[in-house]
Amino acid sequence: MNHAVTIAGTGSYVPERIMTNDDLSKIVDTNDEWIVTRTGIKERRIAAEGEHTSHLGAKAAERALEQAGLAAEDVDLIIVATITPDTLTPATACYVQEYLGAKKAVAFDISAACSGFLYVMKIAKNLIQTGAFKNAVIIGAEKLSNFINWEDRTTCVLFGDGAGAAVLRRAEEGEGSILATDIGTDGGQTHLLNIPGGGSACPITIDNASERLATLAMLGKEVFKHAVRRMKDSANEVIERAGLAAEDIALVIPHQANLRIIDAIADRLTVPNDRVFVNLHKYGNTSAAAIAIALDEANREGRLKRGDKFVMVAFGAGLTWAAATIEW
Ligand code: UT7
Repeated sequence: MNHAVTIAGTGSYVPERIMTNDDLSKIVDTNDEWIVTRTGIKERRIAAEGEHTSHLGAKAAERALEQAGLAAEDVDLIIVATITPDTLTPATACYVQEYLGAKKAVAFDISAACSGFLYVMKIAKNLIQTGAFKNAVIIGAEKLSNFINWEDRTTCVLFGDGAGAAVLRRAEEGEGSILATDIGTDGGQTHLLNIPGGGSACPITIDNASERLATLAMLGKEVFKHAVRRMKDSANEVIERAGLAAEDIALVIPHQANLRIIDAIADRLTVPNDRVFVNLHKYGNTSAAAIAIALDEANREGRLKRGDKFVMVAFGAGLTWAAATIEW
């Protein structure tokens, strides 16, 4: 049996507090002009102290469920993609299950950084196709602000908090579906982008506490090159697997890390800029949440029409990359 799987609803949630580039210039030696020219980011959202990754994820999930017309009790699978879990254990998905009241759902997390939401989409799609699960809520949620070194201008200007979600279930007659997916990993490049401390390799101790090892470290220029190549290849792969060509693609929703990366990919895919979805000026890079928030905004802004074929493509720490072609 190989049933098609559809996206029945999308949702997103970003925290209220806005941090502008000018706000950042009061904390580190940076300025709006540098950030906008080098990245395209104008502002980002910062979660409140008591607002955890699971809270952001649950709010996004509620909106996706509402749009899908599905009750929480009908959900049998919740997967959260995050690199900023509420706790190392249990999984953030367990807290989300409780907030949603989705008592029947199996809930777990996966960690694939910025590619996480598309990793989870592939996993959930395959689990639904086998018949093991019926109604899945997939979530990309991050509270990166807790894992940023706010004294490091090379990273703190880039990231933000937020969450996006989608409801997946078997496609009914006439509904669109996930046409093709691709996910990949290169574990030879773990050093390019990581949070070195706080895990078993490097626990945070009294002696190293001042070194801020539980914050994001990145070799930006190296990551940039890999990001362009991997996202271009992965997007091409899913376009081809779906039996399509670049001109058939109504919209590309790329990972929102840097406008220059997005432009470079659009260029290489030969997709015109008006068919590329961009919202990073509002949120910065929200890792696993980025594609999920962008999907929801594209959906709610009416950028996706029934029957449209569109591509989502992501890249992140791992290194990881992922892409999907969807018929809406
Ligand atoms: O989501 C996972 C994937 N992540 C990514 O895709 C990120 C990929 N990398 C990038 O987006 C870019 O490499 C960055 C935005 C991180 C950096 O842009 P860049 O054009 O590669 O700049 P750079 O690191 O080469 O820095 C250029 C200059 C340096 O000064 P010098 O050495 O030329 O004097 C930096 O010290 O800009 C300086 N600089 C800053 N200046 C003002 C670095 N950060 C800042 C800052 N404000 N925030």
